Amino acid sequence: MNNGLALTPQMGWNSWNHFQCNINEILIKQTADAMVSSGLSAIGYKYINIDDCWGELKRDSQGNLVAKASTFPSGIKALSDYVHSKGLKLGIYSDAGTLTCSQTMPGSLGHEEQDAKTFASWGIDYLKYDNCQNTATSPKERYPKMSKALINSGRSIFFSLCEWGQEDPATWAGAIGNSWRTTGDIRDNWKSMTMIADQNDRWASYARPGSWNDPDMLEVGNGGMTREEYRSHFSIWALAKAPLLIGCDLRSMDKVTFELLSNKEVIAVNQDKLGIQGKKIKKDGDLEVWAGPLSMKRVAVILWNRGSSPANINARWEEIGLDSSAIVNARDLWAHVTHSGVRKQLSALVEPHACKMYTLTRRTA
Ligand code: DGJ
Repeated sequence: MNNGLALTPQMGWNSWNHFQCNINEILIKQTADAMVSSGLSAIGYKYINIDDCWGELKRDSQGNLVAKASTFPSGIKALSDYVHSKGLKLGIYSDAGTLTCSQTMPGSLGHEEQDAKTFASWGIDYLKYDNCQNTATSPKERYPKMSKALINSGRSIFFSLCEWGQEDPATWAGAIGNSWRTTGDIRDNWKSMTMIADQNDRWASYARPGSWNDPDMLEVGNGGMTREEYRSHFSIWALAKAPLLIGCDLRSMDKVTFELLSNKEVIAVNQDKLGIQGKKIKKDGDLEVWAGPLSMKRVAVILWNRGSSPANINARWEEIGLDSSAIVNARDLWAHVTHSGVRKQLSALVEPHACKMYTLTRRTA
């Protein structure tokens, strides 16, 4: 969407994957604090996004949405002032239906302009727009209304569509939104994560600066996958130019989680200004190669072992968009070492459910 936002995929945090409806203003403030004190904000994570369950079930007498008094007693404007004072941005959630998915608050259907103005008046920077209780009408009718309302709200607001890939949003949402979900909800396990990676991959050609495919938020740090599985999750999301929205409790993140989420070299692939989504380019049983072009004629590559025993995986230059005669420097983005003068192919032994990720730079003769 051409609103000047999302020139690279959005980075931040969202409350849903870890907390579901157990949210309140103290949690949001402490998360903003942790985003800054951990150093994650300085490497690009800017959005603090509140998901479902922040509001009262009933609108006020003027029909306005209101923050839930028991959990957000200071109101959303005070929260956005706090989040902005930390140099971060605040996101909120609504639904293109009569109620949100939790059914604890109203949706914005029929109230698009009013709600967009409310969000703007609160200083909101990002709207995630869900698809429950949707009167069985097409998202193609309901989502453009909110897109337009946000544009007319007087504030620059990121628009994240969450219609779960139901009507192939990649084919139409680029004109009205900054990102669109391509799948149902992610779960914190290997099977769900790998399935979603594949479903999202179908739509790779539609991603571009301003408009991204969204395979749902990160589960890194939530405990349901091994370190290598989370490394694969984060690496594939980065290569696929997916939103990097952290979904764990930042206040109690362990060292391993921080190391995964803070790998600047992997994040640089995600945030590369060329903005082309990397994709699966080869599959041999459980052994896969994912790759995509980066700016300055570089190439990002992931060798991914989805099987249960260690295996050798290789990617030949012509398979990943390089001349067969190219001599490259291969930077291993997780080991932080450079292999100089590599010819013809990349090849590595990869542990089960693990991956290796590289950026390849052509050597000038
Ligand atoms: C469904 C969405 O896909 C989730 O990401 C989350 O926003 C929940 N709804 C909230 O109810």
